[in-house]
Parts: sequence; structure tokens; C-alpha cells
Amino acid sequence: MNTNKISIKTSTKNYSIIIGRDLIGKIDKILKANSLKFDKCLIVTDKNIPNKFKRLLYKKLKTNKIFKIEITASEKNKNYRTIEKIHTVLFENRFNREDCVISFGGGIIGDIVGFASSTFKRGMKFVNIPSTLLSQVDSSIGGKTGVNNKFGKNLIGSFYQPDLVISDMNILASLPEREIICGYAEIFKSSIIDNFNNFLYLDKNLKKILKLKSPFIERSIIKSCNLKKKVVEKDENEKNYRKVLNLGHTFAHSYESTLGFSKKLNHGEAVILGIKNAVEFSFKRRILSKQKFNIILDHINKIEMKPKIEKLFKKKHVSKIMNYMRSDKKNNSNNINLILIKDFGKIIVDFQISPSNLKKYISSSLK
Ligand SMILES: NC(=O)c1ccc[n+]([C@@H]2O[C@H](COP(=O)([O-])OP(=O)(O)OC[C@H]3O[C@@H](n4cnc5c(N)ncnc54)[C@H](O)[C@@H]3O)[C@@H](O)[C@H]2O)c1
Repeated sequence: MNTNKISIKTSTKNYSIIIGRDLIGKIDKILKANSLKFDKCLIVTDKNIPNKFKRLLYKKLKTNKIFKIEITASEKNKNYRTIEKIHTVLFENRFNREDCVISFGGGIIGDIVGFASSTFKRGMKFVNIPSTLLSQVDSSIGGKTGVNNKFGKNLIGSFYQPDLVISDMNILASLPEREIICGYAEIFKSSIIDNFNNFLYLDKNLKKILKLKSPFIERSIIKSCNLKKKVVEKDENEKNYRKVLNLGHTFAHSYESTLGFSKKLNHGEAVILGIKNAVEFSFKRRILSKQKFNIILDHINKIEMKPKIEKLFKKKHVSKIMNYMRSDKKNNSNNINLILIKDFGKIIVDFQISPSNLKKYISSSLK
């Protein structure tokens, strides 16, 4: 497969996403081709990335001085302490704005490193090498960075676009199956936001995509990146349209929070459950046709996700789920803002519902 390049234009930065195979070994050439030069570089890696890729990156990067930090990717470590750790290395080694930080990891490492680079001397060079399917199709693009605190997830952050994103599909081979489904959740979400044809492609090739088979996985990644490009270029700071990307996420975040971010339900699995809710709610409110409702539901069943909503949540969880839904960042009144589906490619971003009506719906969907 050839290398693909997607160019993103935002008000603060124009940058490229390079998608292909064997890209880590060509890092130096790719940086040069994208006019990225720096003297010092800090590489922040995820502990779970196979060592052969890390060694290859260190060997092929022909920068004067390379510093390294390895992090265990967990929501617990996505906090100020880790930012402080990164900043300390940068200050101790006299980095300046023209030097670079490279994130080599999934969405957690990317969000942390993006935030650290945006706040170091008000912004330094930042290259993202996403190592999970989710980060290749979603979190590495669009400039949302951030960390968690005791009040919730991703509540401290910035919009800071990277200088370059390098998505090497070879890195995905070591991902556990559940992490592949996690990334697939965002690919599936993108297809609903984008158009029916993209969805049909996923529906037809689902098993091959989940097994990371070529050219199905490449095509799916590229389609998702293009959708994200379209959305981000239209509404970089999520004033309105970018909210489409939160399809399924209001429910998902509440489920994850209710379970205390337990391993029983990971983010992507929660997103799939959330999309199911959004689709079902849209159908019940006669916004979505029965035919399209059934098509989407069938697809969700084909994913054969292990965690089942009826096993995870009971009626006793409704109040907790509701509390998290009420504190969602997207709400701007006492009502709750839901993202609903009219059709493929037709998303409603500001459907307001009172907490009491939403509570009735959630109660009815649980045993
Ligand atoms: N900035 C955004 O726009 C945006 C969008 C979506 C999600 N996010 C954030 O992304 C995070 C989730 O990202 P994620 O799903 O990539 O999770 P993650 O970074 O936690 O990675 C998932 C797991 O895979 C492991 N891993 C990473 N690369 C690997 C590899 N190549 N081989 C084997 N294991 C590997 C990690 O160690 C971790 O255990 C969340 O914190 C979420 O808030 C951000």
C-alpha cells in the first residue's frame, strides 16, 4: 500500500497526517519532507508498545539529542503529575520552543504530551505517532489535548494542533482485540456521521477490518481521518458542528464514570453502547426511520462485543448515570444535550431533553 497524506488546515496550524506501513523506519525522511527540524527531542512512549518499534524510532531519528520518558498508559496517570514530569525533563535540559516533543502511544499519551507541549513556554513543536487504532482514527487529529483531575475526565486541556501525525499501521498488530474494537467504535461512529456508503463498506467488511486485514483497515482509517478533517476544519473549537463527533459519547462517558473507569467496560465499548442508545432514542422519538434503526442495530450485534449492558447496569445505577449525564461538558442549561441521528450524514447536535424524561428512557432500557 502506498503512503497516504491528509492535509489539515486550521486557524492556528496547517499539518499533515501520514498514513501507511513501515513509517517509523523512515521517520527522518518524513520529518524532512514535512520541513520539521529541531535540535533536541523528547520522546514520550507507552510502556506497552513492543520494544522493536521503540528501538527503531530511537535509531532512525537523526536528531542531535534525544531524551526519553516511558509512561504506563492509564487514566490515573493522565494528570498534572505526569505533565510536571515531562516539563521537568524539558526545563532541566534547556529545551526551547523550536525543540520537539514526540508522543509515541495511544490516546492517553497523545493527550498528555499534546497538553505538555502546548503549555511549555506557551507552545513547542509536537509530533504525534499514534499507536492504537483509536488514536490513529480519532484522538491524534484535531488538537484536543488534556488531562483528568478529581472533578472528571479531560477537564483540564487546550486546543493545540500537532505539527505532524505519523500513523504507521504496522504498530497495530500487537493491540489486544478489545483495543481494536475500541478504535472500531470511532470508525463506526464516523461512518454514521459521514454517509451511508461508508457504513455499508464497514458492514460488508467488518470481520476483515477487525482482523486488521489490508486493504480494508487502511481504507477504514483513511475514511475516518477524512471525516475528522472535514469536521475539524469547519469548527475547530467545537462551537457547534464539531459536536457531531460526540455521537454516543454523552451516554458513554456516564457509563464509564458510573463504573469508575473499570476494565469491565473500556471507552470504545462504552461508545458502542452509547451509539446504540442514541439510535434507539432517535427511533423512539420518530427522528430516525425504523429501517435505518434496524440496520444500525444489526451492525452493532455483529460486532459481538463482550460486555453487555444488562450485565453491567441495573435499575439501581440510573441515578448515578443521570448525575454524570447532567454534568456533561456539552450541556448549557438545566436540560441535557443529546446528539441524535436523523439519517446517515444527518446528525442533530443540540437535542434538548429534561433530566426527568431522560431518566424515564434510561430506566426503561435497564432491567
Ligand atoms: N484528543 C481527542 O480528540 C480524543 C479523542 C478520543 C479519545 N481521547 C482520549 O484517548 C484516550 C483513549 O485512547 P486509546 O484508546 O488509544 O487508549 P490508551 O492510550 O489507553 O491505549 C490503550 C491500551 O493499549 C496499549 N497500547 C498502546 N499502543 C499499543 C500497541 N501498539 N501494542 C499493544 N498495546 C498498545 C496501552 O498501553 C493501553 O493499555 C482516552 O483518555 C480518551 O479521553 C482523546
